[in-house]
Amino acid sequence: MTILVTGGAGFIGSAVAKKLVERGDRVLILDNFNDYYDPQLKRDRVNVFLKGVDVALFEGDIRDVALVEKIFSREKVEKVVHLAAMAGVRNSLEHPLQYVDINIIGTTVLLEASRKHAIENFIYASSSSVYGKNEKLPFSEADSVDHPISPYAASKKADELLAHVWSHVYGLPTTGLRFFTVYGPWGRPDMALFLFTKHIFEEKPIEVNNFGKMSRNFTYVDDIVSGVLTALDANLPYDIVNIGGDRENTLLEFIEEIEKNVGKVAHKKLMPLPAGDVVSTVADISKLRALGWAPTTRIDAGIKNFVEWYHHYYHV
Ligand SMILES: NC(=O)c1ccc[n+]([C@@H]2O[C@H](COP(=O)([O-])OP(=O)(O)OC[C@H]3O[C@@H](n4cnc5c(N)ncnc54)[C@H](O)[C@@H]3O)[C@@H](O)[C@H]2O)c1
Repeated sequence: MTILVTGGAGFIGSAVAKKLVERGDRVLILDNFNDYYDPQLKRDRVNVFLKGVDVALFEGDIRDVALVEKIFSREKVEKVVHLAAMAGVRNSLEHPLQYVDINIIGTTVLLEASRKHAIENFIYASSSSVYGKNEKLPFSEADSVDHPISPYAASKKADELLAHVWSHVYGLPTTGLRFFTVYGPWGRPDMALFLFTKHIFEEKPIEVNNFGKMSRNFTYVDDIVSGVLTALDANLPYDIVNIGGDRENTLLEFIEEIEKNVGKVAHKKLMPLPAGDVVSTVADISKLRALGWAPTTRIDAGIKNFVEWYHHYYHV
């Protein structure tokens, strides 16, 4: 199959691209290598992590209608894994227009090209952040997600609404994946695991939000990749599914695991809960489990892999 992976130079996108090529699919990557975080890391994902992996790279913007049309018509795209986005809750509070522009317009451009070219399946990244002020745990796809608390979360909810239109009115099969705190090697420098590891190595203080009273279903990147492939192959007419780890870990357990692997104790600076953040995100994953998927990596193994990668990549 010919599969377009948008955001394929990103943390999750590069891992998805690798797996798809390994199983025999033809992969096209569309990414603009923006500088939200160090673009060199994105280049290295393509040149080092994907070295010897046969992908076709298109450097450009998902909002570029002519470019997207050219890729769809020339390359005969059959399925789309749409992961390109501005990610990051906190940054969205400072740059809301960027999030609305890229995440909403960009997704619409791709939905429309997918409809025109009658592709077989459109998978896209949503986020656990859409649950916003929902207090019922675990978070289920049946819960109301009408109370987002960041522009990022609202843009992902908007993507889900747009996908609903393209599925129901135009008959395009779409599945939205609500990812829960993804971590692993080649991860994003703005996320907690990366920042904590960096600061613990450098013996600088780490900021522990909500005085450490937080928990997450941390999800290892390989489990996310297998979840993406499960949804991609299922060709559901229209759906939204959670992808999260099956263990709830506290932030302090997470930090302890990093300390163990780095071999140093963190200097913890206890902070209140920042705007836009939520205390707990726990996933009800029964829907994706019913399609045969299950997460397999626990934080001890996952953090070990991350710290080893970090150590090697940054020569610390
Ligand atoms: N990592 C997580 O924990 C997490 C959690 C929930 C949802 N998500 C979602 O999953 C997706 C992938 O996240 P990630 O962690 O790999 O982030 P990432 O930032 O590493 O990857 C996104 C990629 O999209 C590219 N991109 C951004 N804007 C673009 C544009 N206008 N045109 C073309 N390319 C563009 C970026 O250059 C980047 O390489 C995103 O949609 C994100 O919102 C991630």
